Amino acid sequence: MTKIALIGFGVVGQGFARVLSQKQQELKEKYGLDAQLVAISGRSKGSLMVEEGIDLGSLLTSFDKYGTVESYPTGTKGLDSIQTIKESGADVVIEVTGTNLETGGAGLPHIREALGLGKHVITCNKGPAALAYSELKELADANGAKFRIESTVMAGTPAVNLGKEALAGNKILGFKGIINGTTNFILTKMGEGGDYDATLKEAQELGYAEADPAGDVEGWDAVGKVVILANTLMGANLKPTDVEREGITGITPVMVEEAKKEGMKIKLIARAYLEDGAVKAKVSPESMLLTDPLANVNNTMNALTFTTDGLHEVTVIGRGAGGVETAHGIISDLIAIYR
Ligand code: HSE
Repeated sequence: MTKIALIGFGVVGQGFARVLSQKQQELKEKYGLDAQLVAISGRSKGSLMVEEGIDLGSLLTSFDKYGTVESYPTGTKGLDSIQTIKESGADVVIEVTGTNLETGGAGLPHIREALGLGKHVITCNKGPAALAYSELKELADANGAKFRIESTVMAGTPAVNLGKEALAGNKILGFKGIINGTTNFILTKMGEGGDYDATLKEAQELGYAEADPAGDVEGWDAVGKVVILANTLMGANLKPTDVEREGITGITPVMVEEAKKEGMKIKLIARAYLEDGAVKAKVSPESMLLTDPLANVNNTMNALTFTTDGLHEVTVIGRGAGGVETAHGIISDLIAIYR
């Protein structure tokens, strides 16, 4: 049995519980992976620890009714997140608390604690991955644990592991892409005559936007992701503040209309490239001709084109935000660890 502790029970934590509940049997039959959730710790949704594994059907039914995991009929309740990591007996800690790109937020101490105890860690949390990937990877290696971060970029659509694993043997010379779903959704709707504020509200309701959507519209979320990709795939050592950044708050309906008249679309593009041997990164709105494949990636879809020495350009397009979509990236990391 692979015992899992889930730290964070917001959009992604709940998405993970739902996906695991649907896939639990399939994971066992197809991969031999008997994945059992033994603990959950949420900031506002309570905490629960059940040694023999939580029955996910029963958990989700009672959670949907009462809004707290403590409504589950058995188990230990009321532990904090660090106690949960220490006492759950989990082999794998899944860290899905909120992102803070300035300090790493609560996720950083959670991940340090878990890796220090030799537990594998999977996270979609961009703060720790963007600010402290090398430190955390070294800590994992020193303790015989794995630290995997696929779902930090483009949710479950392969990005980090595509570059690290599937493209192994190629040198990644740079990349460019649309890696923030919320801003792509807003720009797409603006192109259809939609209103900025109403569209942002819709993105929040759909669970795509960050808790503080300034993180999306001012470009910080894309900056975090560009840093993660550049540092893990291009050997860079960038911090979010090293990235040249411009969000979409200055983009007006008139600008979108003007671009349209010229056969173009405005997209928030994140890129990393080599300049005089150093890795540089940038996030900014760009007008793209409709013949550019990225111009046709709309709504919350993401896309990423790697430029490599061997295969030249490799592009992946897919869903890049949302609880269930992110949970799929976590599941793929879980299977990779098990293998
Ligand atoms: N707020 C992010 C987005 C969520 O809109 O892409 C996924 O990281």
